[in-house]
Amino acid sequence: MLISEVPAFREYWYPIAYDHEIGTEPYPFRMFGDDYVAWRAEPGAPVHAAVDECPHRSARLSQGWVEGGCLVCPYHGWRFAGDGACVEIPSNAPEVPIPPRAHVQSVLADEKYGLVWVCVGVPREPIPALKELDEGYTLVHEMFETWAACAPRIVDNALDVSHVAWVHRNSVGTSDAPRLGEFDVQRKGAHLAFSVTITARVNEQQKANTGITSDFTQRTTYAELVQPFVFRGLLRYEENGLEHVLYKTCTPIDDRHTKFCQFIARSDHPDEARQQGIIAIDQRVQSEDRALLEGVRPDFPLEITTEVHVKSDRMTLEYRKVLAELAAETTGVTPDAEWARRW
Ligand code: FES
Ligand SMILES: [Fe+2]
Repeated sequence: MLISEVPAFREYWYPIAYDHEIGTEPYPFRMFGDDYVAWRAEPGAPVHAAVDECPHRSARLSQGWVEGGCLVCPYHGWRFAGDGACVEIPSNAPEVPIPPRAHVQSVLADEKYGLVWVCVGVPREPIPALKELDEGYTLVHEMFETWAACAPRIVDNALDVSHVAWVHRNSVGTSDAPRLGEFDVQRKGAHLAFSVTITARVNEQQKANTGITSDFTQRTTYAELVQPFVFRGLLRYEENGLEHVLYKTCTPIDDRHTKFCQFIARSDHPDEARQQGIIAIDQRVQSEDRALLEGVRPDFPLEITTEVHVKSDRMTLEYRKVLAELAAETTGVTPDAEWARRW
């Protein structure tokens, strides 16, 4: 399965940038293989987003500018309001009516958690809620990067605890303790949850980050599939009860590239200096995942006989079923032998 083959994936909100990155300078971005532009009519005003193509002669609107609260096309100066409607055609006399089709296709844009979110379809669900922030945990933004990997592979990796012992053997994991305990996967619609405890390595940086003094500790992950490409993982260190809540969002740029965003909520309210240490170790861990995932093929088999599954893969197997059902719902193709031929 390639992302572009499943229309349902377009029906969710995805972050495109930090809120401070979008101002009155048109901001180009790409989602699902299409080009879009975001802008604010004035500093601090709401973000607008639209297809990055002028309805007149198809110029890139992101090459234009914002003036008088409007997005101005660089080719012939047509002006567009936030809803995409053309409000001025300079080559016409002012009394000449503007053609109704002189309209840029706008898409939904909103802001939450310091991020600008966009939905290019009709959203099935609101922007995911981060309940730990409502409970007073500290939000720390860690990274927003373009990866040469497809979104479902990145989420699959996040839901797969058994890789920690291997991919992260030199950072937070240990290949001396690769066995996973029993765990059950709970499913509610397209949402999944499970918890499992592993042995985590505590290097010198992590000792400073967590307050744990031993070289290894028991760490429980309460993992959740929030949306098809949004993961939440509450990591609880059993030794001192510290909670480190990871959010990973994957915005599909196209079938092979993803804008990967990670932010965390911490129960211990780290100050600026400790935040830097926490970001450093999480960036290292993610760079280990990234190096591996950028080598993995971008198609993601939903038909379950293509790849081999073992007991510790129950969560990622269930993830394939969630995506298969979403795909079936919007393509009419059912996840069985027919899928094997198609994907
Ligand atoms: S192409 Fe945009 S105004 Fe002509
Ligand atoms: Fe990982």
